Amino acid sequence: MSFIVAVDGPSGTGKGTITQLVAKKWGFQYLDTGATYRCVTLKLIKEKIKLEDEEKIKKALSEINIEFDGDKVYLDGEEVTKKIREEEVNNLVSQVSHIQIVRNSMVELQRRMSEGKNVILDGRDIGTNVFPNAEVKIYLDASTEERAKRRYKQNKEKGIDISFEDVKKNIEFRDQNDKNSTVGPLKQAKDAIYIDTSNLSIKQVERKVNNIIRKKKKLVDSIENGYKMTPNTPIKKITRAFVKGLLNGLYHIAFRVKVNGVENFPKDEGFIICANHMNYLDAAGIVLCNKKKIRFIAKADLYRFGILSWLAHLFDIIPVKRGKSDLNSIKLCLKALKNKEVIGIFPEGTRKGMAKNVKIKNGAVFLAEKAKVKIVPVGIHGTFKPFSKVTFNYGKPIDIMALKSDDPNWLDNASKKVMDDIIMLTKKED
Ligand code: DC
Repeated sequence: MSFIVAVDGPSGTGKGTITQLVAKKWGFQYLDTGATYRCVTLKLIKEKIKLEDEEKIKKALSEINIEFDGDKVYLDGEEVTKKIREEEVNNLVSQVSHIQIVRNSMVELQRRMSEGKNVILDGRDIGTNVFPNAEVKIYLDASTEERAKRRYKQNKEKGIDISFEDVKKNIEFRDQNDKNSTVGPLKQAKDAIYIDTSNLSIKQVERKVNNIIRKKKKLVDSIENGYKMTPNTPIKKITRAFVKGLLNGLYHIAFRVKVNGVENFPKDEGFIICANHMNYLDAAGIVLCNKKKIRFIAKADLYRFGILSWLAHLFDIIPVKRGKSDLNSIKLCLKALKNKEVIGIFPEGTRKGMAKNVKIKNGAVFLAEKAKVKIVPVGIHGTFKPFSKVTFNYGKPIDIMALKSDDPNWLDNASKKVMDDIIMLTKKED
Protein backbone atom coordinates (compact mmCIF):
# COMPACT_ATOMS: atom_id res chain seq x y z
CA MET A 1 0.00 0.00 0.00
CA SER A 2 1.39 3.41 -0.89
CA PHE A 3 0.57 6.84 0.46
CA ILE A 4 1.33 9.81 -1.76
CA VAL A 5 1.59 13.41 -0.59
CA ALA A 6 1.74 15.94 -3.44
CA VAL A 7 3.04 19.41 -2.61
CA ASP A 8 2.80 21.95 -5.41
CA GLY A 9 3.27 25.68 -5.67
CA PRO A 10 5.52 28.40 -7.07
CA SER A 11 9.13 28.83 -6.01
CA GLY A 12 9.89 30.70 -2.82
CA THR A 13 6.99 29.24 -0.85
CA GLY A 14 9.23 27.01 1.29
CA LYS A 15 8.08 23.84 -0.49
CA GLY A 16 11.46 22.10 -0.40
CA THR A 17 12.18 22.83 3.26
CA ILE A 18 8.70 21.92 4.46
CA THR A 19 8.55 18.76 2.37
CA GLN A 20 11.86 17.49 3.73
CA LEU A 21 10.84 18.14 7.35
CA VAL A 22 7.50 16.40 6.84
CA ALA A 23 9.15 13.43 5.10
CA LYS A 24 11.45 12.98 8.08
CA LYS A 25 8.61 13.16 10.60
CA TRP A 26 6.53 10.47 8.82
CA GLY A 27 9.43 8.33 7.56
CA PHE A 28 8.30 8.99 3.97
CA GLN A 29 10.62 9.04 1.00
CA TYR A 30 11.18 12.59 -0.27
CA LEU A 31 11.22 13.17 -4.01
CA ASP A 32 12.42 16.56 -5.20
CA THR A 33 10.93 16.54 -8.70
CA GLY A 34 12.60 19.87 -9.54
CA ALA A 35 15.92 18.05 -9.13
CA THR A 36 14.93 15.59 -11.88
CA TYR A 37 14.42 18.50 -14.34
CA ARG A 38 17.69 20.00 -13.12
CA CYS A 39 19.51 16.72 -13.88
CA VAL A 40 18.14 16.65 -17.43
CA THR A 41 19.23 20.29 -17.87
CA LEU A 42 22.75 19.49 -16.64
CA LYS A 43 22.97 16.53 -19.00
CA LEU A 44 21.91 18.67 -21.98
CA ILE A 45 24.50 21.31 -21.03
CA LYS A 46 27.25 18.69 -20.58
CA GLU A 47 26.48 17.03 -23.90
CA LYS A 48 26.04 20.41 -25.62
CA ILE A 49 22.57 19.46 -26.85
CA LYS A 50 20.45 22.34 -28.17
CA LEU A 51 16.88 22.64 -26.85
CA GLU A 52 15.51 22.50 -30.41
CA ASP A 53 17.24 19.19 -31.18
CA GLU A 54 14.42 16.80 -30.32
CA GLU A 55 16.20 13.66 -31.59
CA LYS A 56 19.27 14.23 -29.42
CA ILE A 57 17.12 15.10 -26.40
CA LYS A 58 15.15 11.88 -26.93
CA LYS A 59 18.38 9.87 -27.02
CA ALA A 60 19.73 11.62 -23.90
CA LEU A 61 16.47 10.85 -22.08
CA SER A 62 16.62 7.19 -23.06
CA GLU A 63 20.14 6.94 -21.58
CA ILE A 64 19.79 9.16 -18.50
CA ASN A 65 20.17 7.64 -15.04
CA ILE A 66 18.92 9.77 -12.15
CA GLU A 67 19.21 8.47 -8.59
CA PHE A 68 18.61 9.88 -5.13
CA ASP A 69 20.40 8.73 -1.99
CA GLY A 70 19.19 10.72 1.03
CA ASP A 71 20.02 14.38 0.25
CA LYS A 72 22.39 13.41 -2.54
CA VAL A 73 21.50 13.46 -6.24
CA TYR A 74 23.33 11.34 -8.81
CA LEU A 75 23.32 11.84 -12.58
CA ASP A 76 24.68 8.93 -14.61
CA GLY A 77 26.56 7.68 -11.53
CA GLU A 78 28.17 11.05 -10.67
CA GLU A 79 27.13 13.06 -7.59
CA VAL A 80 25.66 16.37 -8.82
CA THR A 81 23.85 17.65 -5.71
CA LYS A 82 25.57 21.04 -5.86
CA LYS A 83 26.12 21.25 -9.60
CA ILE A 84 22.41 21.15 -10.41
CA ARG A 85 21.91 24.30 -8.27
CA GLU A 86 24.53 26.33 -10.15
CA GLU A 87 23.74 29.39 -12.26
CA GLU A 88 23.98 27.75 -15.70
CA VAL A 89 21.38 25.13 -14.70
CA ASN A 90 19.21 27.79 -12.99
CA ASN A 91 19.12 29.82 -16.18
CA LEU A 92 17.98 26.96 -18.41
CA VAL A 93 15.92 24.59 -16.26
CA SER A 94 12.58 26.37 -16.67
CA GLN A 95 12.78 26.09 -20.48
CA VAL A 96 13.92 22.46 -20.31
CA SER A 97 11.06 21.55 -17.97
CA HIS A 98 8.57 22.90 -20.52
CA ILE A 99 9.72 20.58 -23.33
CA GLN A 100 6.97 17.96 -23.77
CA ILE A 101 9.24 14.90 -24.21
CA VAL A 102 11.28 15.89 -21.16
CA ARG A 103 8.11 16.28 -19.14
CA ASN A 104 6.70 12.90 -20.27
CA SER A 105 9.91 11.15 -19.40
CA MET A 106 10.30 12.80 -15.96
CA VAL A 107 6.65 12.21 -15.03
CA GLU A 108 7.13 8.52 -15.83
CA LEU A 109 10.35 8.44 -13.80
CA GLN A 110 8.70 10.17 -10.82
CA ARG A 111 5.83 7.66 -10.90
CA ARG A 112 8.26 4.74 -11.15
CA MET A 113 10.37 6.04 -8.24
CA SER A 114 7.25 6.32 -6.06
CA GLU A 115 5.67 2.99 -6.92
CA GLY A 116 4.33 1.11 -3.89
CA LYS A 117 5.98 3.49 -1.41
CA ASN A 118 4.98 6.23 1.01
CA VAL A 119 6.31 9.31 -0.75
CA ILE A 120 6.10 13.06 -0.46
CA LEU A 121 6.86 14.87 -3.71
CA ASP A 122 7.25 18.59 -4.29
CA GLY A 123 6.88 20.22 -7.68
CA ARG A 124 4.50 22.10 -9.92
CA ASP A 125 2.16 19.47 -11.42
CA ILE A 126 2.25 16.62 -8.90
CA GLY A 127 -1.37 16.86 -7.75
CA THR A 128 -2.73 17.72 -11.20
CA ASN A 129 -0.70 15.42 -13.45
CA VAL A 130 1.85 13.09 -11.83
CA PHE A 131 -0.43 11.78 -9.08
CA PRO A 132 -3.98 13.00 -9.67
CA ASN A 133 -5.14 10.40 -7.12
CA ALA A 134 -2.63 11.34 -4.40
CA GLU A 135 -3.94 10.74 -0.89
CA VAL A 136 -2.98 14.29 0.15
CA LYS A 137 -2.62 17.34 -2.10
CA ILE A 138 -1.28 20.62 -0.79
CA TYR A 139 -0.78 23.85 -2.68
CA LEU A 140 1.69 26.20 -0.99
CA ASP A 141 1.56 29.83 -2.01
CA ALA A 142 2.85 33.21 -0.81
CA SER A 143 2.63 36.79 -2.03
CA THR A 144 5.13 37.82 -4.70
CA GLU A 145 6.54 40.42 -2.30
CA GLU A 146 7.20 37.82 0.40
CA ARG A 147 8.72 35.29 -2.01
CA ALA A 148 10.97 38.00 -3.44
CA LYS A 149 12.11 38.92 0.08
CA ARG A 150 12.96 35.27 0.81
CA ARG A 151 14.86 34.80 -2.47
CA TYR A 152 16.70 38.15 -1.99
CA LYS A 153 17.83 37.04 1.48
CA GLN A 154 18.96 33.64 0.13
CA ASN A 155 20.94 35.35 -2.66
CA LYS A 156 22.63 37.69 -0.17
CA GLU A 157 23.66 34.73 1.98
CA LYS A 158 25.12 33.05 -1.11
CA GLY A 159 26.93 36.30 -2.04
CA ILE A 160 24.85 36.80 -5.22
CA ASP A 161 24.55 40.52 -6.01
CA ILE A 162 21.12 41.25 -7.47
CA SER A 163 18.71 44.05 -6.48
CA PHE A 164 15.42 43.35 -4.72
CA GLU A 165 13.48 44.86 -7.66
CA ASP A 166 15.20 42.52 -10.13
CA VAL A 167 14.55 39.48 -7.93
CA LYS A 168 10.87 40.44 -7.79
CA LYS A 169 10.68 40.95 -11.57
CA ASN A 170 12.31 37.52 -12.13
CA ILE A 171 9.76 35.87 -9.87
CA GLU A 172 6.85 37.58 -11.63
CA PHE A 173 8.22 36.55 -15.02
CA ARG A 174 8.69 32.91 -13.92
CA ASP A 175 5.23 32.76 -12.37
CA GLN A 176 3.66 33.91 -15.62
CA ASN A 177 5.71 31.35 -17.58
CA ASP A 178 4.88 28.51 -15.18
CA LYS A 179 1.16 29.27 -14.97
CA ASN A 180 0.61 29.88 -18.68
CA SER A 181 2.75 27.06 -20.04
CA THR A 182 0.88 24.53 -22.16
CA VAL A 183 3.29 21.84 -20.91
CA GLY A 184 2.87 20.95 -17.21
CA PRO A 185 1.44 24.31 -16.11
CA LEU A 186 1.54 25.28 -12.45
CA LYS A 187 -2.06 25.00 -11.29
CA GLN A 188 -3.76 24.23 -8.01
CA ALA A 189 -5.55 20.87 -8.17
CA LYS A 190 -9.27 21.23 -7.42
CA ASP A 191 -8.98 18.98 -4.37
CA ALA A 192 -5.70 20.46 -3.07
CA ILE A 193 -5.60 22.25 0.27
CA TYR A 194 -4.37 25.81 -0.16
CA ILE A 195 -1.92 27.23 2.37
CA ASP A 196 -0.76 30.83 2.13
CA THR A 197 2.66 30.85 3.79
CA SER A 198 3.21 34.65 3.50
CA ASN A 199 2.77 35.30 7.21
CA LEU A 200 3.63 31.87 8.57
CA SER A 201 6.89 30.51 9.93
CA ILE A 202 8.33 27.23 8.63
CA LYS A 203 7.25 25.57 11.90
CA GLN A 204 3.68 26.80 11.49
CA VAL A 205 3.40 25.55 7.91
CA GLU A 206 4.98 22.23 8.90
CA ARG A 207 2.42 21.83 11.66
CA LYS A 208 -0.45 22.53 9.26
CA VAL A 209 0.83 20.00 6.72
CA ASN A 210 1.39 17.38 9.42
CA ASN A 211 -2.16 17.83 10.67
CA ILE A 212 -3.55 17.34 7.17
CA ILE A 213 -1.51 14.16 6.69
CA ARG A 214 -2.45 12.85 10.14
CA LYS A 215 -6.18 13.20 9.42
CA LYS A 216 -5.95 11.57 5.99
CA LYS A 217 -3.74 8.73 7.25
CA LYS A 218 -6.24 7.97 9.99
CA LEU A 219 -9.01 7.83 7.41
CA VAL A 220 -7.06 5.66 4.97
CA ASP A 221 -5.97 3.30 7.76
CA SER A 222 -9.53 3.01 9.03
CA ILE A 223 -10.77 2.09 5.54
CA GLU A 224 -7.88 -0.37 5.08
CA ASN A 225 -8.49 -2.08 8.39
CA GLY A 226 -12.08 -1.19 9.08
CA TYR A 227 -13.85 -3.19 6.40
CA LYS A 228 -14.29 -6.75 7.42
CA MET A 229 -17.09 -8.78 5.86
CA THR A 230 -19.36 -9.66 8.72
CA PRO A 231 -20.56 -13.27 8.54
CA ASN A 232 -24.14 -13.92 7.46
CA THR A 233 -25.37 -15.16 10.80
CA PRO A 234 -29.09 -15.97 11.28
CA ILE A 235 -29.45 -12.74 13.30
CA LYS A 236 -27.92 -10.71 10.46
CA LYS A 237 -30.25 -12.35 7.94
CA ILE A 238 -33.33 -11.63 10.09
CA THR A 239 -32.21 -8.04 10.68
CA ARG A 240 -31.60 -7.57 6.95
CA ALA A 241 -35.04 -8.96 6.05
CA PHE A 242 -36.67 -6.69 8.61
CA VAL A 243 -34.75 -3.53 7.58
CA LYS A 244 -35.27 -4.31 3.88
CA GLY A 245 -39.03 -4.68 4.43
CA LEU A 246 -39.20 -1.44 6.39
CA LEU A 247 -37.16 0.57 3.86
CA ASN A 248 -39.08 -1.01 0.97
CA GLY A 249 -42.31 0.25 2.58
CA LEU A 250 -40.86 3.76 2.94
CA TYR A 251 -39.58 3.67 -0.65
CA HIS A 252 -43.07 2.78 -1.90
CA ILE A 253 -44.56 5.65 0.12
CA ALA A 254 -42.00 8.09 -1.29
CA PHE A 255 -42.33 6.96 -4.94
CA ARG A 256 -44.81 5.20 -7.20
CA VAL A 257 -42.55 2.25 -8.04
CA LYS A 258 -42.92 0.10 -11.15
CA VAL A 259 -40.59 -2.87 -11.76
CA ASN A 260 -40.58 -4.57 -15.18
CA GLY A 261 -38.65 -7.54 -16.55
CA VAL A 262 -37.48 -9.42 -13.41
CA GLU A 263 -38.38 -12.59 -15.34
CA ASN A 264 -35.22 -11.84 -17.36
CA PHE A 265 -32.99 -12.71 -14.39
CA PRO A 266 -30.86 -15.81 -15.09
CA LYS A 267 -31.97 -18.73 -12.92
CA ASP A 268 -29.71 -20.51 -10.49
CA GLU A 269 -26.53 -18.64 -11.40
CA GLY A 270 -24.72 -15.48 -10.34
CA PHE A 271 -25.04 -12.38 -12.51
CA ILE A 272 -24.27 -8.67 -12.63
CA ILE A 273 -26.89 -5.94 -12.78
CA CYS A 274 -25.76 -2.78 -14.59
CA ALA A 275 -27.82 0.40 -14.28
CA ASN A 276 -27.79 4.07 -15.14
CA HIS A 277 -26.96 6.22 -12.13
CA MET A 278 -28.78 9.47 -11.43
CA ASN A 279 -29.16 9.54 -7.72
CA TYR A 280 -28.23 7.54 -4.59
CA LEU A 281 -31.88 6.48 -4.47
CA ASP A 282 -31.57 4.43 -7.67
CA ALA A 283 -29.16 1.93 -6.07
CA ALA A 284 -31.45 1.78 -3.02
CA GLY A 285 -34.42 1.08 -5.32
CA ILE A 286 -32.66 -1.82 -7.04
CA VAL A 287 -31.68 -3.38 -3.71
CA LEU A 288 -35.00 -2.79 -1.91
CA CYS A 289 -37.49 -3.53 -4.70
CA ASN A 290 -36.10 -6.98 -5.52
CA LYS A 291 -36.74 -10.31 -3.91
CA LYS A 292 -33.18 -11.32 -4.70
CA LYS A 293 -30.33 -10.06 -2.53
CA ILE A 294 -28.30 -7.61 -4.63
CA ARG A 295 -24.89 -6.47 -3.46
CA PHE A 296 -23.84 -3.13 -4.86
CA ILE A 297 -20.27 -2.01 -5.28
CA ALA A 298 -19.77 1.36 -3.60
CA LYS A 299 -16.93 3.63 -2.58
CA ALA A 300 -15.13 2.42 0.51
CA ASP A 301 -15.73 5.75 2.31
CA LEU A 302 -19.29 4.53 2.90
CA TYR A 303 -17.90 2.32 5.65
CA ARG A 304 -16.77 5.38 7.64
CA PHE A 305 -20.08 6.86 8.66
CA GLY A 306 -22.25 5.46 11.47
CA ILE A 307 -25.65 4.50 9.99
CA LEU A 308 -24.33 4.17 6.43
CA SER A 309 -21.54 1.91 7.62
CA TRP A 310 -24.08 -0.23 9.49
CA LEU A 311 -26.30 -0.51 6.38
CA ALA A 312 -23.27 -1.26 4.18
CA HIS A 313 -22.37 -4.15 6.47
CA LEU A 314 -25.96 -5.36 6.69
CA PHE A 315 -26.41 -5.44 2.91
CA ASP A 316 -22.88 -6.79 2.30
CA ILE A 317 -21.98 -3.88 0.04
CA ILE A 318 -18.63 -4.43 -1.67
CA PRO A 319 -16.25 -1.51 -1.03
CA VAL A 320 -14.01 -0.20 -3.76
CA LYS A 321 -11.23 2.33 -3.37
CA ARG A 322 -11.69 5.19 -5.82
CA GLY A 323 -9.25 5.80 -8.63
CA LYS A 324 -7.26 2.62 -8.05
CA SER A 325 -7.58 -0.88 -9.31
CA ASP A 326 -8.66 -2.48 -6.08
CA LEU A 327 -7.58 -6.12 -6.09
CA ASN A 328 -9.40 -6.87 -2.86
CA SER A 329 -12.72 -5.68 -4.22
CA ILE A 330 -12.22 -7.66 -7.47
CA LYS A 331 -11.60 -10.78 -5.36
CA LEU A 332 -14.75 -10.14 -3.28
CA CYS A 333 -16.85 -9.74 -6.46
CA LEU A 334 -15.50 -12.90 -8.07
CA LYS A 335 -16.09 -14.88 -4.90
CA ALA A 336 -19.67 -13.59 -4.68
CA LEU A 337 -20.42 -14.39 -8.34
CA LYS A 338 -18.99 -17.86 -7.90
CA ASN A 339 -21.41 -18.29 -4.97
CA LYS A 340 -24.27 -17.44 -7.39
CA GLU A 341 -24.82 -14.02 -5.81
CA VAL A 342 -25.98 -10.91 -7.69
CA ILE A 343 -23.78 -7.81 -7.92
CA GLY A 344 -24.87 -4.29 -8.85
CA ILE A 345 -22.56 -1.94 -10.74
CA PHE A 346 -22.98 1.50 -12.30
CA PRO A 347 -20.85 1.45 -15.48
CA GLU A 348 -20.87 5.26 -15.55
CA GLY A 349 -18.79 5.12 -12.34
CA THR A 350 -20.37 8.32 -11.10
CA ARG A 351 -23.77 9.96 -10.82
CA LYS A 352 -25.13 11.45 -14.06
CA GLY A 353 -22.08 10.10 -15.90
CA MET A 354 -23.93 10.05 -19.24
CA ALA A 355 -24.76 13.74 -18.97
CA LYS A 356 -21.16 14.46 -17.99
CA ASN A 357 -20.00 12.42 -20.99
CA VAL A 358 -17.65 10.23 -18.93
CA LYS A 359 -15.99 7.21 -20.50
CA ILE A 360 -17.92 4.06 -19.61
CA LYS A 361 -15.96 1.96 -17.12
CA ASN A 362 -15.38 -1.60 -18.22
CA GLY A 363 -15.14 -3.15 -14.72
CA ALA A 364 -18.51 -4.90 -15.04
CA VAL A 365 -17.61 -6.59 -18.35
CA PHE A 366 -14.18 -7.48 -16.96
CA LEU A 367 -15.78 -9.19 -13.95
CA ALA A 368 -18.46 -10.90 -16.07
CA GLU A 369 -15.80 -12.36 -18.32
CA LYS A 370 -13.62 -13.51 -15.44
CA ALA A 371 -16.55 -15.08 -13.55
CA LYS A 372 -18.27 -16.28 -16.75
CA VAL A 373 -21.59 -14.70 -15.81
CA LYS A 374 -24.14 -12.61 -17.71
CA ILE A 375 -24.96 -8.93 -17.31
CA VAL A 376 -28.56 -7.84 -16.87
CA PRO A 377 -29.02 -4.21 -17.95
CA VAL A 378 -31.58 -2.05 -16.19
CA GLY A 379 -32.83 1.35 -17.30
CA ILE A 380 -34.13 3.53 -14.48
CA HIS A 381 -36.63 6.18 -15.41
CA GLY A 382 -37.80 8.89 -13.01
CA THR A 383 -37.02 12.20 -11.36
CA PHE A 384 -36.98 10.89 -7.76
CA LYS A 385 -39.16 13.83 -6.70
CA PRO A 386 -41.42 12.85 -3.76
CA PHE A 387 -44.47 10.81 -4.88
CA SER A 388 -43.32 10.74 -8.50
CA LYS A 389 -43.17 7.59 -10.60
CA VAL A 390 -39.94 5.59 -10.74
CA THR A 391 -39.65 2.74 -13.22
CA PHE A 392 -37.03 -0.02 -13.22
CA ASN A 393 -36.90 -1.77 -16.61
CA TYR A 394 -34.78 -4.94 -16.52
CA GLY A 395 -33.67 -6.10 -19.96
CA LYS A 396 -32.54 -9.38 -21.51
CA PRO A 397 -29.27 -10.76 -20.07
CA ILE A 398 -26.18 -9.99 -22.14
CA ASP A 399 -23.90 -12.96 -22.74
CA ILE A 400 -20.48 -11.38 -22.35
CA MET A 401 -18.64 -14.56 -23.40
CA ALA A 402 -20.35 -14.27 -26.80
CA LEU A 403 -18.99 -10.72 -27.19
CA LYS A 404 -15.42 -11.67 -26.32
CA SER A 405 -12.99 -11.49 -29.24
CA ASP A 406 -9.33 -10.97 -30.14
CA ASP A 407 -10.03 -7.30 -30.78
CA PRO A 408 -7.94 -5.40 -28.17
CA ASN A 409 -10.91 -3.02 -27.75
CA TRP A 410 -13.46 -5.74 -27.06
CA LEU A 411 -13.86 -4.79 -23.37
CA ASP A 412 -14.66 -1.18 -24.33
CA ASN A 413 -17.00 -2.29 -27.12
CA ALA A 414 -18.86 -4.73 -24.86
CA SER A 415 -19.14 -2.07 -22.14
CA LYS A 416 -20.61 0.29 -24.72
CA LYS A 417 -23.14 -2.36 -25.74
CA VAL A 418 -24.17 -2.74 -22.06
CA MET A 419 -24.58 1.03 -21.72
CA ASP A 420 -26.53 1.26 -25.00
CA ASP A 421 -28.97 -1.40 -23.74
CA ILE A 422 -29.35 0.51 -20.45
CA ILE A 423 -30.06 3.76 -22.31
CA MET A 424 -32.68 2.05 -24.46
CA LEU A 425 -34.35 0.63 -21.35
CA THR A 426 -34.47 4.08 -19.68
CA LYS A 427 -36.70 5.21 -22.57
CA LYS A 428 -39.34 2.53 -21.89
CA GLU A 429 -41.71 4.08 -19.39
CA ASP A 430 -44.12 1.27 -18.58
O1 DC B 1 11.75 23.49 -7.64
P1 DC B 1 13.00 23.81 -8.54
O2 DC B 1 13.36 25.26 -8.56
O3 DC B 1 14.15 22.93 -8.23
O4 DC B 1 12.50 23.43 -10.00
C1 DC B 1 13.37 23.56 -11.10
C2 DC B 1 12.54 23.87 -12.34
O5 DC B 1 11.77 22.76 -12.75
C3 DC B 1 11.60 25.04 -12.23
O6 DC B 1 11.75 25.87 -13.36
C4 DC B 1 10.23 24.45 -12.24
C5 DC B 1 10.42 23.14 -12.90
N1 DC B 1 9.60 22.09 -12.35
C6 DC B 1 8.50 21.67 -13.05
O7 DC B 1 8.23 22.23 -14.10
N2 DC B 1 7.75 20.65 -12.59
C7 DC B 1 8.03 20.06 -11.43
N3 DC B 1 7.27 19.05 -10.99
C8 DC B 1 9.15 20.46 -10.67
C9 DC B 1 9.90 21.51 -11.17
